[in-house]
Amino acid sequence: MITLVLAMAENGVIGRDGQIPWRIPEDMKRFKALTIGKPVVMGRKTWDSLPRRPLVDRTNIVVTRQPGWRAEGAVPAASLEEAFAKTQGADVMVIGGGEIYRAALPHADRIDLTEVHGAFDGDAHFEFERSDWRETAREMHATPDGLTYSYVTLSRK
Ligand SMILES: NC(=O)c1ccc[n+]([C@@H]2O[C@H](COP(=O)([O-])OP(=O)(O)OC[C@H]3O[C@@H](n4cnc5c(N)ncnc54)[C@H](OP(=O)(O)O)[C@@H]3O)[C@@H](O)[C@H]2O)c1
Repeated sequence: MITLVLAMAENGVIGRDGQIPWRIPEDMKRFKALTIGKPVVMGRKTWDSLPRRPLVDRTNIVVTRQPGWRAEGAVPAASLEEAFAKTQGADVMVIGGGEIYRAALPHADRIDLTEVHGAFDGDAHFEFERSDWRETAREMHATPDGLTYSYVTLSRK
């Protein structure tokens, strides 16, 4: 089972200047709950953007084209295929960023999506064809300062 864990604004923005353009602490908690104990696959730029590396209690698999790239707490992979092979059959959570979501999308069975209800400026984007996916759950929430967002579970049709 391959799952994309993704937070996306209504205009497709997922990142700006190597960071996430909104602050939703509850979504960070949900991210942790969804991924804990599982292998996570990320692009090297997302690894670089993590405030604390590695993500604890998860096997951090980092995809990079740089031969010999190493970092403490990271399992390097030269391709997405190599990254998936390193999960030894466990459920895998693909955690971004844009380049890795695009590469992983054709392989994904499920998307744990946080829809952030607004348009944001950014330099990292993602899009996917909604009609390929069935929505199985949706919950709307708001931050104390009024930013609304929805947790949406999508399964491939
Ligand atoms: N909103 C969200 O849910 C979310 C989640 C994660 C990240 N983000 C944001 O997304 C942004 C980063 O996304 P991004 O698209 O710029 O970068 P990214 O996908 O995190 O990483 C791209 C890097 O991954 C490696 N890579 C990509 N495809 C590869 C392949 N097929 N084979 C081998 N290596 C491959 C390359 O690393 P090398 O250059 O080392 O070769 C490439 O430069 C940041 O702003 C981050 O905050 C948002």
